[in-house]
Amino acid sequence: MEDLNKYIQVAKQAALAGGRIAEAGFFAFKRSQTQEKKGHELFTKYDLASEAAIRKIIKRHFPRHRINGEEKGFSGRANDYVWQIDPIDGTTNFTIHDPNFAVSIGLEYRGHSIVGVIYVPVLKELFWAGQGKGAWLGKTRIKVSSLNNLKRSIITFNYSHYARYNKDTVRWKGALKLLGYKAREMGSAAVNLAWVASGRLEGTVASHMGPWDFSAGCIIAAEAGAKITDRYGRPVKRLDRPVIVSNGLIHSALLKLLNN
Ligand code: IPD
Ligand code: CA
Ligand code: CA
Repeated sequence: MEDLNKYIQVAKQAALAGGRIAEAGFFAFKRSQTQEKKGHELFTKYDLASEAAIRKIIKRHFPRHRINGEEKGFSGRANDYVWQIDPIDGTTNFTIHDPNFAVSIGLEYRGHSIVGVIYVPVLKELFWAGQGKGAWLGKTRIKVSSLNNLKRSIITFNYSHYARYNKDTVRWKGALKLLGYKAREMGSAAVNLAWVASGRLEGTVASHMGPWDFSAGCIIAAEAGAKITDRYGRPVKRLDRPVIVSNGLIHSALLKLLNN
């Protein structure tokens, strides 16, 4: 773990490289160029190009580490270190010229996130964290919001591409809306996690995230003081169940409302 600074530096370098590709693509992209995976999930040639560039940089520095990317899956043999890459988180936003998308790169050691970088290329915002080093936006330390009133809070929702996982989260967002709370869907789980970390949102709820959606944002949010649990307030063990991330202050009020 003495290499933590090196991991952070390489994760940033890789995120910026992927981000440059995604940003160039964003301004050139026409919606008709969108492609579909099985299950109608969208992707573009820029998702693939960003992931390839990120993999190349990580492999050059850490040839033995395992890599798991959303587009190309696992590469490398079993290893204590696993990089989780989402080359464009928020691809649907990307395809409709909505700049709210990010490159997300997390490094896990024996299953625990130790480094996270989330880069929002169009806004040029680089969120990052290392275990025990705090969470940062560029050179500025970030922390969660100090609002402790759920009614005044802004909570975002992230849904699975597979409708069957969204039963609870769709109901929860509807319930918050009907009670007059501020609930939104922004289209990038990674950006939402970075925004909870930086105090722009009080909370975010997600159903069925991939490890590449969650790994970087999880340590950035945790290092910024966020609380991360399942719907019952327990540590998160499964990403195919809803995950609730908040500034901690509104957490129990939010869980109470969701479980009502
Ligand atoms: C998706 C986004 C979205 C969330 C989905 C993710 P993608 O990632 O983060 O906000 O609701 O669960 O799969 O497909 O754009 O990488
Ligand atoms: Ca994603
Ligand atoms: Ca993606």
